[in-house]
Amino acid sequence: MFVNRNHELAILNQHSRSISSGSRINIALFGLRRIGKTELLLQFKSTTHDSNILIPYINLQKIIPDTEGFVKAYSKELIFETVRQKEQADYPYEMEDLLLLASKLGDMETHHVRTLISILKQHEIAREELLELIFEFAQKLAEKHNKKIIFILDEFQELLQVHSRFLQVMRSITEKQKDVNYWISGSVFSVFNEMLNYKNPFFGQFTRMTLENFDRESTHELIDSTLPFKLAQNHKDKIYKFTNGQPYYTVAVCRKISEQYALDSSINTPQVNYCIMNEIFADTGSINEHFEYILDVSLAKFRNKDRYKTILFLLSQDPATLAAIARHIKKPTGEISNYLKALLRTDLIFRKDSTYHIRDPLFAFWVNNKYLGLGTEITSGKAVEHLLANLVSSQPSSVVL
Ligand SMILES: Nc1ncnc2c1ncn2[C@@H]1O[C@H](COP(=O)(O)OP(=O)(O)OP(=O)(O)O)[C@@H](O)[C@H]1O
Ligand SMILES: [Mg+2]
Repeated sequence: MFVNRNHELAILNQHSRSISSGSRINIALFGLRRIGKTELLLQFKSTTHDSNILIPYINLQKIIPDTEGFVKAYSKELIFETVRQKEQADYPYEMEDLLLLASKLGDMETHHVRTLISILKQHEIAREELLELIFEFAQKLAEKHNKKIIFILDEFQELLQVHSRFLQVMRSITEKQKDVNYWISGSVFSVFNEMLNYKNPFFGQFTRMTLENFDRESTHELIDSTLPFKLAQNHKDKIYKFTNGQPYYTVAVCRKISEQYALDSSINTPQVNYCIMNEIFADTGSINEHFEYILDVSLAKFRNKDRYKTILFLLSQDPATLAAIARHIKKPTGEISNYLKALLRTDLIFRKDSTYHIRDPLFAFWVNNKYLGLGTEITSGKAVEHLLANLVSSQPSSVVL
């Protein structure tokens, strides 16, 4: 169930009304991993019923990340959404199914799909030409059907992998199109920012919007809507304190509490504590899995992974300067500076006044305790209490069990 984000939805609705009456508004939605970008964009899509507007949506993490995968997904979404606004339709899986859908719309659409299929069959695929073709097709489609298009590209930074000149091609074709708007989202701030700024005046003009964690009231609402029973106020506050209002962490803990409730038909404070710690540290805990994944993908391209982990561990104890980290690891500052630059690009850390910090306090807490050898079994109630006390103090610190 969708909760909160009324403010953001109101802004998106306002922009879509302006688009409907002729404005052109491109949007860049920033938000760290699992903050709720996809939920928000899909909620906008499913609650907007303006017959002037088509809202195709692609989650770029869910398609094959190459030019062929992108042009297919892009064309399928456009044609599918256009047909769907007129009549019930099934999502096309194969290009042949798409041909059938396109034929319902007319010659121009059929011709587009045929051209696409024939280029895709060529031995040497002209990839830039393919990209130009689909971007041009969107404007033609909008004009022909007298529609405005809000094309949502979720996890836009994935497009960097699609084609090295992707941004240039997209800009050169779409910059002057009057009926096609792009609403894009990105979760790796450093990369997304660079894509929007670096030699890209067109993307620089996108209206920016950032998603933050939920406040206390919305977190309580999210807990109420996720749990099949009413949780005590102080327990809800404890979840809020620990999740910082991060919706994914909140839902993860609630799921665990639900399971516990199904077993015991009641929930007390030690059980809430246990559920929280279990989600963070147990092998099967969703937050643990998420952090393992984040660490994995963030360090995937680095060779000396242990060095990066050591730096993260140091920062999980206390924010530190370059000189302090170099001293601790007993390596030259030049070398450590390179590691830190690479880490900054992952968004795991940020720099403020020449001090480096881990961005997410819960991730810092996890790194800190994980590397101190915390086992996967959270059996001792005392250990749980201790961990929790540490977590809610301002700076996560090490725990001796
Ligand atoms: N507004 C919301 N209402 C209810 N639950 C939400 C909301 N926002 C986020 N959540 C919860 O958090 C989870 C993560 O949200 P979502 O997938 O939208 O994040 P995201 O920012 O798109 O993440 P990623 O960076 O991994 O793509 C959802 O599966 C849902 O459980
Ligand atoms: Mg998402």
